[in-house]
Amino acid sequence: MLKEVTQSVYFDYYGENLFYIEAVIEKLLERIHEIDSRREVRGERKLTDNVRYRIKSPESMKAKLKKRGMETDCHSALTNLYDAAGLRIICPYIDDVYLMAKKLSHMSDIEVIEVKDYIKNPKENGYRSYHMIIKTPVLYNGETKHVIAEVQIRTMVMNSWASCEHQLKYKKDVSAKESVALLKRCADEMLKIDYSMLAIREMMEGKESAKCRMQSAE
Ligand code: GTP
Ligand code: MG
Repeated sequence: MLKEVTQSVYFDYYGENLFYIEAVIEKLLERIHEIDSRREVRGERKLTDNVRYRIKSPESMKAKLKKRGMETDCHSALTNLYDAAGLRIICPYIDDVYLMAKKLSHMSDIEVIEVKDYIKNPKENGYRSYHMIIKTPVLYNGETKHVIAEVQIRTMVMNSWASCEHQLKYKKDVSAKESVALLKRCADEMLKIDYSMLAIREMMEGKESAKCRMQSAE
């Protein structure tokens, strides 16, 4: 059972929906685990370093709805916003991000509702991550419901940038132009590391494409 499900403040807000939110997280965790297990038996690398998940707290859900001028009740949360259930998949290499996204979206019972590729189109501050909003049926207490979840997929490098930036937000105003520019520069430098790491891996795998990557990284 997820820790949130044991807290009454979550049940007071989400009601029975809480169990479906928990079920969708558990289902997706299982699927991600399955993808890696199948690769491992074939002697291939795991695509994930780490998977995080959370149920959005009623407090932050209400704040987000309020900010958008919407009703703050649970029905409004589950119909207007898509991130009550959230998973973050951290991958070692940048190509793993896209392979993981492809594998999840090809599953017959997973419907991709929306994709935001902040790797190809990073945010102004340099934020990079691949976001998918998905919908999938989950069974709870004999009843099946289609439940929505947000899946963020990013590399370990992108994740360390996002973690620091997130922490900074609580300390100072990182929306100031100067901070945004500095953060963006840092994120762009970190992207080079992602590509260099990929090049090293490909070189060790004996791939021809690695040579081109190494040359363009220099
Ligand atoms: P919110 O940003 O949550 O209000 O939702 P949105 O509809 O704008 O979706 P978006 O895909 O932009 O962001 C969803 C989530 O991605 C956020 O809740 C964060 O977890 C993460 N995220 C988006 N932008 C940033 C960012 O600039 N920095 C960090 N650290 N995380 C971000
Ligand atoms: Mg946003």
